[in-house]
Amino acid sequence: MENRFLVRLKIADLKKIVIAIDGYSACGKSSTAKQVASRLGYTFIDSGGMYRAVTLYLLNRGADIKDLNNVEDHLNHVSIDFVDESILLNGENVDLEIRSREVNENVSEVSAISAVRRKMVRQQQEIGLNKGVVMDGRDIGTVVFPDAELKVFMTAEMEIRAVRRQKELSTKGIDEPLESIMKNLQDRDLVDSTRVDSPLKMAEDAIEIDTTNITLEEQVVQVVALAKEKINEN
Ligand code: DC
Repeated sequence: MENRFLVRLKIADLKKIVIAIDGYSACGKSSTAKQVASRLGYTFIDSGGMYRAVTLYLLNRGADIKDLNNVEDHLNHVSIDFVDESILLNGENVDLEIRSREVNENVSEVSAISAVRRKMVRQQQEIGLNKGVVMDGRDIGTVVFPDAELKVFMTAEMEIRAVRRQKELSTKGIDEPLESIMKNLQDRDLVDSTRVDSPLKMAEDAIEIDTTNITLEEQVVQVVALAKEKINEN
């Protein structure tokens, strides 16, 4: 216990870096990023949660997502904060609501809107100014932090992604059939990787990790090891 504490202190003394974790939905990005951040004493930011919170806001207001001027007006009233790894939308905890099926079905369309991306990316870059951040998303290594010291791109086979997402949802009390989860993941993969603004793609200097046959613990250990290499280099 004491040793682990000393190791954390030592890491905290070292120069901090930015770790960008990108990839398709449900490849284990957020779970890995959260654990890596905790082991390094870094801040974890789930950038997908931010796009989900904007989507929730628009849905709750009955906004027409296709009316871009209307979306821009609404955006002026959206404020997103992270407190103790929970996400707050205008001061209210929305951890659960942002995982709903309705949000899942609309978030890719909302996150393809440039005005939405501009606002989110600005906030994400501000959070990263002091380094010591692990952020996961789709454009973190390509657009948000193109100079991130460590970039990881996670992949996994579709079926395993759907099973993992189903388990994650069920821990939150949300039951969804595998087929509909798979369909949603396929639809989102397509929209996320073909949109005009900041499409999902692997940064040239990213390290790819296929998580199909490895456990969460193995993913975390791999990323922490890569991070320590980069921290020692910097
Ligand atoms: O990581 P996630 O599944 O919670 O992300 C939800 C959606 O948000 C995803 O389908 C695409 C979008 N997103 C994005 O466009 N850019 C990011 N950096 C993170 C997420």
